[in-house]
Amino acid sequence: MQIPKEYFNLTNDIKIPMVGFGTYLIEDKDVKFLVHQAIISGYRHIDTAEAYGNENGVGLGIKSAMDELGISREEIFVTTKLWPGNEAWGQAPKTFESSIKALQRSLSNLKLDYVDLYLIHAPFPQKQRIEQWKALVELQRQGKVRAIGVSNFNEGHIEEIRSAGLPLPNANQIELHPWSQKPNLVSYLKKNNISIIAYSSLVPLSSWRNVEGQTSGKTDLMKADGADSDSPFKIMATKYGVSEAQVLLRWGIQKGFAVIPKSTTRERIQKNIELFGFEIDDRDMSEIEKMDRGEGVAWKSGDPTKEA
Ligand SMILES: NC(=O)c1ccc[n+]([C@@H]2O[C@H](COP(=O)([O-])OP(=O)(O)OC[C@H]3O[C@@H](n4cnc5c(N)ncnc54)[C@H](OP(=O)(O)O)[C@@H]3O)[C@@H](O)[C@H]2O)c1
Repeated sequence: MQIPKEYFNLTNDIKIPMVGFGTYLIEDKDVKFLVHQAIISGYRHIDTAEAYGNENGVGLGIKSAMDELGISREEIFVTTKLWPGNEAWGQAPKTFESSIKALQRSLSNLKLDYVDLYLIHAPFPQKQRIEQWKALVELQRQGKVRAIGVSNFNEGHIEEIRSAGLPLPNANQIELHPWSQKPNLVSYLKKNNISIIAYSSLVPLSSWRNVEGQTSGKTDLMKADGADSDSPFKIMATKYGVSEAQVLLRWGIQKGFAVIPKSTTRERIQKNIELFGFEIDDRDMSEIEKMDRGEGVAWKSGDPTKEA
């Protein structure tokens, strides 16, 4: 078994494993087994969110794997996310107080004393963004979350935090894959020492979002070469003796991102962390760089009317 011991520094004293297990769209009743499976397979980083409705099962999976392997809480990196509320969807925006309470609820669901990383899931609502960020800063001060960050934030949203005189996020979790490379945002984040966590890394090969209601309407993005037999990723996979998914995930790693693939399949869960025995060469990295198609399929940066 290959344990992904590769980490990068989120802050001076907090390391994040570069490969995590994503849990979006896994139901609470199924997630315990899959998180357990992932940790047994070597994952040491689990990604969930208040909005996924599965924190309870995630917590059970973490506990049962820790018991089985005899490992301590410190060995597992857990991320969850504050759902900010969205008036466009008829939801009350969270205030400073309700953001603090939301973390308490998440910890209680997860059955944990702290999480390693707490993110604001998306940059809305505008009026409460800074209050929500202040709540995360306070939770970090209280030691209930080790690191704090944001998700789906663009440069403007992060500059708002700077303008308010508050500490910048430790991380930004964003959709990143060869078809959505966001070069300007990535270089801005790197310049500001904000770690990057890539989600939906497998978009170029999967068709799971190519379903009415699952994307921001950009289904055309999904239709091209990803699943064809002559897809560039298939050709590279053959060349390196790995799967297409491994090529896409390794690309993220080589770009310096953490990746958090989700799978409900035992064999894929295992394969998706085996990313450190090969390297995409410079020529292929340059080829991939030319494949950028823009925004992506999940959130449109900062647009509260587009769903993940
Ligand atoms: N912050 C945000 O707004 C946000 C948004 C989206 C996602 N995320 C996080 O990022 C995680 C990953 O993103 P994601 O779930 O959108 O997509 P993903 O991990 O890129 O792709 C998941 C899809 O790919 C399939 N798959 C997994 N491994 C595969 C393999 N080796 N070969 C072929 N197909 C494979 C899965 O099917 P099976 O399950 O059948 O294997 C599933 O349909 C999420 O679970 C969540 O934790 C965050």
